[in-house]
Amino acid sequence: MKKLKIASIPGDGIGKEVVPAAIDVLETISDLHGGLSFDFTEFPYSCDYYLEHGEMMPEDGLKRLSDFDSIFLGAVGDANLVPDHISLWGLLIKIRREFEQTINVRPAKQLPGIQSPLVNPNDFDLLVVRENSEGEYSSIGGRIYRDEDEIAIQNNVFSRKATERVMRFAFDLATKRQKRVTSATKSNGIVYSMPFWDEVFKDVSNDYPDVETDQQHIDALTAFFVTNPSRFDVLVASNLFGDILSDVGAGIMGSIGVAPAGNINVNGKYPSMFEPVHGSAPDIIGKGIANPIGQIWTAKMLLDHHGEEEIGQVLLDVIEETTSDRIVTADLGGKHTTKEVTDEIIKRLKAKA
Ligand code: NAD
Ligand code: IPM
Ligand code: MN
Repeated sequence: MKKLKIASIPGDGIGKEVVPAAIDVLETISDLHGGLSFDFTEFPYSCDYYLEHGEMMPEDGLKRLSDFDSIFLGAVGDANLVPDHISLWGLLIKIRREFEQTINVRPAKQLPGIQSPLVNPNDFDLLVVRENSEGEYSSIGGRIYRDEDEIAIQNNVFSRKATERVMRFAFDLATKRQKRVTSATKSNGIVYSMPFWDEVFKDVSNDYPDVETDQQHIDALTAFFVTNPSRFDVLVASNLFGDILSDVGAGIMGSIGVAPAGNINVNGKYPSMFEPVHGSAPDIIGKGIANPIGQIWTAKMLLDHHGEEEIGQVLLDVIEETTSDRIVTADLGGKHTTKEVTDEIIKRLKAKA
């Protein structure tokens, strides 16, 4: 019997609604599947926790989380309670950095039954591989206060090690898919980091002669995501470009509420963390209408990560059958609640067992 120890952090806002829904789905899978079980431990780290304790997680928080096989997180952020840069850097980004989750994998594919906003969606199925540890999200910089000449400086950091690592990860994934990698660049406008990014891309691509490569400036790339996303297979992008591209990917699927993600620790030293692309959705908290699919598809990524690809595929099939029958929440034009969508997925999983 394989037992996975999972730390769950519902976090803020709708994280508290969609994480329990996805845990119900995972528990159902373990009931149906003799060889797999989960041991969930919930951690209350969130903006509410900050108000009570003055920090997003306790000093030994990371140490406690390091004992788990994976982390299952909802969303972090409630700007009415705690400024975003404090809550995110105190929890989400802290875990990504300290646990060396240097790669963020974010799939986007056309879901049956969902009206994509695109004129010609053409069954797209792509994977954004985002560098998750440096780039534009560096903490190097500062502010100079001089009356009206005030300046803010934000440095970008691109190391060869991290750049090469994310590119190799993308190429390795592409060899198992359509064997195409597109690099998101901006070397026409950004003179140090992006020409370096292009150079590393070329170097790495030499080791993968069977993989077709392409590079596009990020501005053009976002337009291609809208006009013809089916031309893409795997995309590799810096931290910020990958953040933006993955939200465009979510948008063309019809809603940010369905997009999944995995923050991967590639060296196996620390747990990886699975969390959907969306945030805490302050505008719909407590209404019972948060789309649980992003979190449930994220659970599929957790299953895949632990070698349970077969069950993962069954779960994705069931998600697709549910959307195909239009059992969906309001963000996808439906009338169903978080609970109704989750219950339907659970019912269909049981029917397949
Ligand atoms: P958001 O993703 O929370 O919301 C954007 C829009 O999408 C909102 O209209 C929201 O209602 C909708 N939406 C998001 N998820 C949905 C779902 N599952 N079902 C239905 N609709 C959904 O982005 P935001 O408004 O920019 O950020 C809100 C807060 O979340 C901020 O504090 C932000 O920093 C934080 N945030 C956290 C994460 C994370 O923890 N990974 C990601 C993004 C934003
Ligand atoms: C995401 C989010 C975070 C990011 C924010 C909330 C810091 O947008 O996970 O995509 O930019 O990485
Ligand atoms: Mn984002």
